[in-house]
Amino acid sequence: MNAVAVTGASGLIGTALRGVLAARGVPVRALVRSRERACAVGDTETVVVGCVSDPRAVSEACADSGAIVHLARSTHRIEDICRFDYPAMYAVLAAANTNAAELHFPSSQAVFGNADGYPPPVLDDGTPPNPCTAYGAMKAAFEWTAKATCRIPPVVYRLPVVVPARLSDGAPWLRHLLAGGFCHLDVARRTVNLMPLDERFQHGGLSFVHVEDVVATIAANLFREPARGTVAMLADPEYLTFRELADVYADAARCLGYTVRTMWAVPGGGPCTVERMFRFDTTTATARLGFTSEAGRARLFGKLTDWFAAAAGAPHPP
Ligand SMILES: NC(=O)c1ccc[n+]([C@@H]2O[C@H](COP(=O)([O-])OP(=O)(O)OC[C@H]3O[C@@H](n4cnc5c(N)ncnc54)[C@H](OP(=O)(O)O)[C@@H]3O)[C@@H](O)[C@H]2O)c1
Repeated sequence: MNAVAVTGASGLIGTALRGVLAARGVPVRALVRSRERACAVGDTETVVVGCVSDPRAVSEACADSGAIVHLARSTHRIEDICRFDYPAMYAVLAAANTNAAELHFPSSQAVFGNADGYPPPVLDDGTPPNPCTAYGAMKAAFEWTAKATCRIPPVVYRLPVVVPARLSDGAPWLRHLLAGGFCHLDVARRTVNLMPLDERFQHGGLSFVHVEDVVATIAANLFREPARGTVAMLADPEYLTFRELADVYADAARCLGYTVRTMWAVPGGGPCTVERMFRFDTTTATARLGFTSEAGRARLFGKLTDWFAAAAGAPHPP
């Protein structure tokens, strides 16, 4: 069976993808950047330790693979993006062409830049990229360069916020987005204050996708010729406002006997300075890649409720 090379194999999506591929008996060649991470991916056939910007390390990791899933990414800082993510473009695309391997590349909603107004406009995959951050520009550049140079047309999965299977496994920025920016829990006093910290939370919301749906879609489209050349947004059809997320915590808190206080206004006001998210039409992803997000909203609410209950000290999640 053709091996699949995975860069960033120890990250959020990489970990979930390794699980799905292992269950299907697909041999995985992993690139990780430290020996500690190499131990964490011991379930793979081959592990190469190296930087994704190093063509030799990438070439070794991708040797004899039939597909490459390029998940490694640095940070949103421009110096990291210039040092790691842009050079990785050359290393990964060269490895794909040398091995005549398919490239599967998770891009981002950041290629579309900033949504103005509320409710935000609905974009589809025909909307031209218009990034407004270094990270979004890097993703757009990678998409264009891959389309222009890959011998086999790449599959590009544009992702909004990716929700892990357990929210406690999420990165700090994700926990801030899903709760820290508007839900303030005082376990000692058994109170919850629901109050947005800035205008982003007062007026905004998020587009999301569950990690399990992302990896199921990538795994299903490996070595599938009709998928080649597709650029598609994998997003749950529902856009959620932060106010709706706050209501989930309020319900969970009341079930646990907490006092809930709500003041849905930003103390001191102040303009929103961060990127706001669009809503997305996922027709292309569904039609061309078989993407589904069954009961995605209810699943997210279930994850949020379990997470809140654990944080609030419930003996058993309600
Ligand atoms: N998560 C999201 O919400 C989201 C949304 C849109 C798009 N995406 C895209 O999806 C892809 C995967 O995301 P993810 O959430 O799985 O990311 P992640 O959890 O941050 O994982 C990224 C992985 O890349 C590795 N890495 C970072 N710099 C590296 C370098 N210089 N050399 C080698 N490996 C390096 C990291 O290694 P360490 O473990 O050592 O740090 C980590 O394992 C990325 O391209 C990301 O831009 C993600």
